[in-house]
Amino acid sequence: MAAVVSAADTTSVYHQGWIDLNKDGKKNVYEDPSQPVERRVNDLLKRMTLDEKIGQLWQIDWPKRVDAQSATRLRNGEVGSYLGSDATVETPLVRNQLQHIAIEETRLGIPPIFGHDVIHGFRTVFPIPLAVACAWEPELFERTEAIAARESAAAGIDWTFAPMVDLARDPRWGRIAEGFGEDPWLGCLYGAACVRGFQGTNVADADRVVACVKHYVGYGAAEGGRDYNTTEIPDYTLWNFYLPQFKSCVDAGVLTVMSSFNCLSGVPASGNSYTLTDILRNEWNFRGFVVSDYESVGELVDHGVAANEADAARIALNAGVDMEMISKTYRDTLKVQIGQGTVSRRVLDEAVRRVLRVKFQKGLFDHPYVDETRYLSAYLKPDALALSREAAAKSCVLLRDEHNVLPLTPETKKIALIGPLADLAQEMVGPWHSRAHTNELVSLAQAIRDDAGSDFKISETRGCALFEPGVVKVPRDISNYLPLKGSPTGPDEIRDAVSLAKSSDVVVLAVGEPLDWSGEDGSRSDLGLPGLQQQLFDALAATGKPIVVVLFSGRPLAIPQITEKAAAILEAWFPGTEGARGVADVLFGRAEPSGRLTTTFPRAVGQVPFYYNHYNTGRPGFGEYKGNYVDIPTIPLYPFGYGLAYTTFEFGQPRLNADKISFAGKVDASVTVTNTGNRAGTAVAELYIRALSASAGSRPVRELKGFQKVLLQPGESRTVKFELTTHDLGYFDANGHWLVDPGLYQLWISKDSASGEPAWFDLEK
Ligand code: NOJ
Repeated sequence: MAAVVSAADTTSVYHQGWIDLNKDGKKNVYEDPSQPVERRVNDLLKRMTLDEKIGQLWQIDWPKRVDAQSATRLRNGEVGSYLGSDATVETPLVRNQLQHIAIEETRLGIPPIFGHDVIHGFRTVFPIPLAVACAWEPELFERTEAIAARESAAAGIDWTFAPMVDLARDPRWGRIAEGFGEDPWLGCLYGAACVRGFQGTNVADADRVVACVKHYVGYGAAEGGRDYNTTEIPDYTLWNFYLPQFKSCVDAGVLTVMSSFNCLSGVPASGNSYTLTDILRNEWNFRGFVVSDYESVGELVDHGVAANEADAARIALNAGVDMEMISKTYRDTLKVQIGQGTVSRRVLDEAVRRVLRVKFQKGLFDHPYVDETRYLSAYLKPDALALSREAAAKSCVLLRDEHNVLPLTPETKKIALIGPLADLAQEMVGPWHSRAHTNELVSLAQAIRDDAGSDFKISETRGCALFEPGVVKVPRDISNYLPLKGSPTGPDEIRDAVSLAKSSDVVVLAVGEPLDWSGEDGSRSDLGLPGLQQQLFDALAATGKPIVVVLFSGRPLAIPQITEKAAAILEAWFPGTEGARGVADVLFGRAEPSGRLTTTFPRAVGQVPFYYNHYNTGRPGFGEYKGNYVDIPTIPLYPFGYGLAYTTFEFGQPRLNADKISFAGKVDASVTVTNTGNRAGTAVAELYIRALSASAGSRPVRELKGFQKVLLQPGESRTVKFELTTHDLGYFDANGHWLVDPGLYQLWISKDSASGEPAWFDLEK
């Protein structure tokens, strides 16, 4: 449908440049940077035609080049935003060409906003968010995202679709890689850190981008772990586990929110006025705009809540979705619906106002163009590469280390480096590899070759393929940048690996998943190693040589057979551009493993969803009629909060300031942590609570409420102190009211969610 530009207001003349003068020779209010944003928004809104308004609410694909169709659409005022998805999004050239058309050749000169998925890096890729969450260092994430902002802004990107704060309890769901794990409190810290990293203190700065918290809401609870699938989340659980991370991002000033694909307890999230308006707008006072996920407005028809596109547009807009990503229901139906009165002008105006507000806040009206040379020196700078290495090392979680086989010392002179992921640099970047170039990525083998030094003799063989085509899912061709991944396992490969192992002191075995088996649409029904990798491991383990397993994965894997036989297991996730160097740093002891899991490792896929902060049953514990599995232990393989170090720590009993706390008081808790080993190491002291007589519903058996990372020298003891207010002890009821109940509480300060003895206190009425 072609937009008809009928002048709503004639004080504006055609733009000659981006600053326009009205008939009196003065700037229009909306063009005047000295005016407050709200005045500018309102001034502009009143000049806009209906078509121009509707145009602001449509996001389309960022074209590869400015052809006649894209230029015409823009000139007609049909486009409010572009979504970058291919290699064009690496220089600002096309963006600036489009921007020139919008600014100079349209009636009001409204700039589009250019969005692209910058999730864990742009040209420099950092570890996946799940990995960085395991560093228990939100500031680290703020730093990686600030560099991602700097690189992507230089490419002409104004807006990214991150953070993804979806709580995930089911590792079959591939997007667990993009979030922070299963704890809402930690998710709040990481979400806010990401917003700060992207938006900075002034989002209009040239090296900042607008953040978008997603996927609102409940997307991570996809049934069966199948992406896009239905979620059933009672309000009580929604308020306590799924909403807080979004609220935290709103409080941190996030300017946009993405509505999700899923149907939430029967109502699709992109047509859900309870979550989008009652909570987000009315309760939290969110002033930015909501963009739908990709075609999720059009998909309201597939959900069966809209009979046709017009219905879908009406439902979504009324519910609170301001901008429609890709599908065209707003563009094609809103004008008629406004004419018929089925959609009100007030609702439309409000959506446009929100979009314009963000564009003004980003400074797009005042600085619409991007420096066309800055990108040439913006990527892969030394500080970015160093940070990708540091972040990867800090994200590694040491799951097992029998007889201190790690770190590798010159005594383990001969190293057999085996496994399909040992020398596959392209897999290191994980599911949102953004603009990574294969030839700029470092494999583990490369990192080891570069830095191991002459004390070690490294021999390499692949052992087997990453997966066997035809037997398991053949990955999609994910990007022009990343070619497909090598040949299937050859007939002698495992045998060759075994003979190499036999002639070595230690095997470093790099195994895991292809990068696109996690991330969007990366659901798995099995959580083991793909292809012949388990077979390879078993054959190597049978040699009796110590096997150090380095796992690269976007999710926790169910690998009890590996736990039984491996000498060491280091979970390295997908570490990013130079991340393999950080992983090698940990293997060789140049860095210490200080990561702790933020996601439970199950023993078997049959245990999932599996998470530490569950409610108790009426029959807790082990034994008959307790609801345990008859065929496997009910406990996880590795619990939330778990991770070893190259030294050992002893946690004393937690101490409290009092065993009776008044409502006006606070809880002072402390613990003595001692480094009982002979290397320096970082302990993570994790504080959990449990409320034992909650009035609105059962409370989790443990809830994380604090943590501290403490570097301790050998033999050193330190008292680690925490302070909780009584507010910190609260939770939401099913209506979203914050409650703090009097009664009995337990408090742990421990090294993971499954250990330690609690202290008790009474919160007095
Ligand atoms: C769909 C994904 O769900 C979302 O996370 C992403 O931001 C959009 N596509 C845009 O690429």
